[in-house]
Formats: sequence, C-alpha cells, structure tokens
Amino acid sequence: MGLYFNLNKNYNMSLFIKKPMHLLLEEAGESGKGLKRTLSAGALVALGIGAIIGAGLFVRTAAAAAQNAGPSVTLGFIIAAIGCALAGLCYAELSSSIPISGSAYTYTYATMGEFMAWIIGWDLVLEYAVGAATVGIAWSEYLNKLLVEVLGMSPIPYEWIHSPFQVSPEGVHGIINIPALVIVSLLSLLLIKGTSESAFVNGLIVITKVSIVILIIILGWGFVNAQNHVPYIPPATKYIDHAGVSHSYGGIMGILGAAGTVFFAFIGFDAVSTAAQETKNPKTAMPIGILGSLAVCTVLYILFAHVLTGIAPVEFFRTKGGEASVVAAITEYMHGYGWLAKLVTVAILAGFSSVILVMLLGQSRVFYSMSKDGLLPKMFSELHSKFKTPYKANLFILIIVGLFAAFIPGDIVGDMTSIGTLFAFMLVCVAVIILRKTNPELPRQFKTPLVPLVPILGFIVCGAMIFGLGWLNWARLLGWLALGFIIYFGYSRKNSVLANTGKTVFPVDPPAPKMPGEE
Ligand code: ALA
Repeated sequence: MGLYFNLNKNYNMSLFIKKPMHLLLEEAGESGKGLKRTLSAGALVALGIGAIIGAGLFVRTAAAAAQNAGPSVTLGFIIAAIGCALAGLCYAELSSSIPISGSAYTYTYATMGEFMAWIIGWDLVLEYAVGAATVGIAWSEYLNKLLVEVLGMSPIPYEWIHSPFQVSPEGVHGIINIPALVIVSLLSLLLIKGTSESAFVNGLIVITKVSIVILIIILGWGFVNAQNHVPYIPPATKYIDHAGVSHSYGGIMGILGAAGTVFFAFIGFDAVSTAAQETKNPKTAMPIGILGSLAVCTVLYILFAHVLTGIAPVEFFRTKGGEASVVAAITEYMHGYGWLAKLVTVAILAGFSSVILVMLLGQSRVFYSMSKDGLLPKMFSELHSKFKTPYKANLFILIIVGLFAAFIPGDIVGDMTSIGTLFAFMLVCVAVIILRKTNPELPRQFKTPLVPLVPILGFIVCGAMIFGLGWLNWARLLGWLALGFIIYFGYSRKNSVLANTGKTVFPVDPPAPKMPGEE
C-alpha cells in the first residue's frame, strides 16, 4: 500500500494545479524503493553522446543540405547548437533542482500546472517515441548498405524497407519497413532487462561512434572540393523535391529550415535528465552530463558538416546519395577508402542502436512519471519485480514506435521529432523563469546564468527554428496536440491523482511480481 498525503481539504480541479515541490523532492529521495541508482556523471555524458550522435548527423545533415541550405547547413548547425545550449542551461538548472524522472514533463508540472505538463508529456512522445522511429528508419537504410557493400549480398527489396507513402525513382511503392520494426523491437526487449546493462553496452558504442566521426573528418578533409562550397550560402529560392514537396532553399530561410532539420542531431542531450532517478548524486552529475555531451557533439558536427558538403555536391544528396548519405558520399567520392565506407556502415548500425535505446528509455521514464500522477493508466508505472524496469510501458511504447517506424517516411517523422522537441525546449525555458519566482528558496546546485536573458533567448532561437520548419510541420504539431487534448479531457483529467483527489501517492510500492503481458 502506498502512503497518501493530503494536500488540501478542497479538491483542486484547476487545469493549472501544480505539483508541490516538496513532494517532488521526496519522491526523488525515495527512489531507492523504485528505480535503481547506478549512473555516474561519466556514464551520463556517455548516455548523452549515445543519444546525440546518430541519424541527425548521418542522414539529416545531407537532407538539410539538399533541401534547405547547401553548404551553409553548417550555419544551421551553429544556430541549432546555440538554441540547444541556451535550452540546455535551463534543463541543467531544472534537473539539478528537481532530480526526478520525467524530464520537461515533471518540471512543467511543478511550474506551470497540470494542463501544460500534459501538453509537454504528450509532446515528448514526439521527441522520444517518434525520434526512436526516425533513427530506426535510418538504421534500415544503412542495413541495406551493410548487406550490399560489406557482405556482398542483394539489398532488401524496396517495398519491404520503405513506408507505403514512399515511391522509388523506378516507381516501386513501399509497403512496410521491416528492418526498422525489428531493430526497435529488439532494443525494447533489451531495455526491459535493465538500464545499467544497457548503459554498459552504450559506453562501448559511444567510443566507436565518436572515433568514426573523427576519422571521417580527418580523412575526408583531404577530399573536400572547394567548388562544392561555392556559393557557401545559396541565393534564396524554392526547391521542389521528387515527391513534389516545396522547400525554402538558400538565404536566411534556408539556413533556419536547415537548423530545424539538423536540430534533430542534437536531440538526446536532454534525455540525460530523464535518468535523474537512476543517477548517483544527480545534483552535480546532471549539469555535467547535459552540457558536457552537448559541447563535445557541437564541435564534431560543425566539422563533419563542413567536410560532408565539401566531398559531394548538393545535387548528389538530392539524387543518388539521398539514402545512407554519408556512406554513399564516401563510396562515390573518396576513392581508395572503400574500407572506411564499410567500417562506417558497421559503426553506424551500432551507433544508431544506442540512440534508439536512449530514446526508448526516455520515453518509458516519461510515461512512468505520468502514470504515477494518474495522467496515464497505472500499468505504465508498474516495475518488473526482478529487473526494476517499467516493462509494460516498454512494451506499449514498442507498439507505438513500431507503427511509426514501419509505416511513416523518415523525413516526416524526423521533422515531427524536431518540432515537438523544440516546442518542449521553449516550455522548459519558460519553466526556469517561473520557478525562480515561485520557488526562489529551492536549492539549485546549478543555476542558469543571466536569467531571464538566457531563457528568453533560448525561447526565441527555438521558436525561430520552428518557424523555419514550415507550415506543414506546424500543422502536424497542431494535429498531434489536438489528439493529446482529446486524451487529456477524455481520460487524464478524470484520473489525475493530484487534481481529482487532492492527494498524491507517495511512495509507490513496487508491484507484486508480474511477467510481461500478464494482466
Ligand atoms: N540526436 C539523435 C540523432 O541524431 C536523435 O539520431
């Protein structure tokens, strides 16, 4: 049985009821009864890099160059990095003062109330679940490279590795992306087994991944053709892709659009904060984990994008190099480096797996927190008796991610991930300002510098990237939020522990032993 704390005598049905800070802190302190604390600051940086370097760099960079900015995609990376650093400073303050699972969702519950917290929690599904699907799709592109170029086999036929919304230049229609479905399923099962084992595997992959990026920068530098960088910022125009979709290409709008797209490459450093309950000494480890991983990746990305757009012309990324773009460019333009293409393919497959793993982890932790608050059904916070992982949440997430991975094109899920995450970052910036006013006494091991300037700038830069992503993506975000409102008013509001009973449940005892799938 859990213990119940009365918050007040009158139930508070307000949409803006806030989760009291002392309860959050008590929940964090009680986590020994739930999730295990096993991660150190170093493990967090590894977790961050594991989540950060992935499809954004190896797939979205070329897409942004082709569709939006040409070589000036590097400037897009700089804008995205500035937005992330500003939002990251806000994340770091919140995660060091509210060291509890749930990320932006939890911070928002404490500062802006339940309705906004729901919006954020729902929005984070775009970041983590849809993000995991995006990387799963990118994984499937590189799997085909592995089969053909490393193992000398035939590729998986187009229809079994593409969504029904995609058509090949030869007119073949996609049916389902089976490899993407398989990889997200396998990794979901690994997560059920436990975070600390997953973090160990992740550590090995991170080393490989960073080494590969550095190798491509160093070896590729000699193959940069200066002509490919002229003009560095293409004049503003429109680019219509082969599916007939129009993109702002060149000029400021092109750079902003590229920033919104490659922003995907930075997603993940905030996932570190979702592991707060599994972290030893989270107050100091969290800021190091978040900002450290972000800093390392920013430097690598800018150099990498400079080299990639120098090796191959934009036209290549619009045609032949559209899929598995980095390996395609190495194979075509870096003669004598076939071994590098092979090595990169293998490393990328492993690297993408670690990204998917961290995103699935982040998603299950957000669901865990929302479920404890009654905004989602109880099953999402039930821990496995032996592994201490929210295994039912993992299995449910597997279904959602699997559907996106199997049936939606990578470009669409990629930009949906970016816009959803940018929106969450904007709310995190606002949360810092509000928390400083509502809870000035709260001990903060890390304080965001220059408040409110840094959060306001973070809000503006992330907003500019959303602007750059264009109306189709704004419409998708609005549609997603509308679906979330239906669930909130149909289920969550009625079941909210805090709003409807005036109580919150604390602590939550581990459930009786149950096996996956058991009722
Ligand atoms: N940042 C992660 C990636 O690039 C999501 O794949």
